[in-house]
Amino acid sequence: MIAASSVLDRVLVLEMVRVTEAAAIAASTLTGRGDNDAADAAAVEAMRAALNELPMDGTVVIGEGERDEAPMLYIGEKVGSAQGSGPKIDIALDPLEGTTITAKAGPNALAVLAIAEAGGLLNAPDVYMDKMAIGPNYPDGTIDISRPVADNIHAIAAAKGVKPSEIVACVLDRDRHAGIIAELRALGCGIQLIPDGDVAGVISTTDPDTGIDIYLGSGGAPEGVLAAAALRCVGGQMQTRLLFRNDDERARAHRWGIDDLDRIYTLDDLAKGDCIFAATGVTDGSLLKGVKRRQGGAIETESIVMRASSGTVRRVFAEHRKGFA
Ligand code: FBP
Repeated sequence: MIAASSVLDRVLVLEMVRVTEAAAIAASTLTGRGDNDAADAAAVEAMRAALNELPMDGTVVIGEGERDEAPMLYIGEKVGSAQGSGPKIDIALDPLEGTTITAKAGPNALAVLAIAEAGGLLNAPDVYMDKMAIGPNYPDGTIDISRPVADNIHAIAAAKGVKPSEIVACVLDRDRHAGIIAELRALGCGIQLIPDGDVAGVISTTDPDTGIDIYLGSGGAPEGVLAAAALRCVGGQMQTRLLFRNDDERARAHRWGIDDLDRIYTLDDLAKGDCIFAATGVTDGSLLKGVKRRQGGAIETESIVMRASSGTVRRVFAEHRKGFA
């Protein structure tokens, strides 16, 4: 049982949706326009303005990058209108998860954020992260990222009471995943290869309608923390490991206070205590419908907001009849 946080209560759970709606609507003006950076910038600006209206003393712990590389929503940036007096909140955000998807009008682009009491979210450097995740209702310890892919597939299949060849995996379509894909093919598993967007990929394991049993492969560490916050709310298991490609990245990890570079992070290491996860669809996807503009000017959005302590999952369909306010 996760204790509810009165600190988070004060930030109004549903206000989180207003923040992701703002980012999604702004990004959606650039859907299919072939300009990743412009779409991202629009989402960042809108999310920042919306966060700054909330009565909290917020700190971005997972953001657009380190201070010298991101002009807005950088790691360490303070947001909220009650600095020094309001509840202290840590925020992990990705104003546009799927910049390329948006630029190409592909599926599953999201505006995403997660909040927790100060100290509740892993302060992960922006490096790659190896991820393995399954949905709820499996015995604890079903997956083990340190073991071969085949062992994990056999364990999931046994827990589900099906053959390994009936397991369906979701994997980012990248050359670096050729080994994982070959191992899955050898077992006869189904594979959904996604072009981008592993936050939605991880969350898809929690929704039986997707048919996806396991997410695996490497992607951004910030996206890993965001996906973990979502799994804390709906249940599931996740294990991750940071991946360092060079000495510079290893040195960066040490500056962040990470000494054990091979450490395996479980769900609770990534997001602990009570937390809230919110996302709004930018383009249509397995989790959410994208932003729709109707004749006459109304804008429709679909969002999800969920909380770890209560396990409540709310889907919010909004019709912004006078534009976004
Ligand atoms: P962006 O929205 O920042 O482009 O991220 C999209 C994404 O697919 C993430 O979901 C994923 O974690 C990461 O990129 C994978 O990185 P790469 O494209 O380098 O394989």
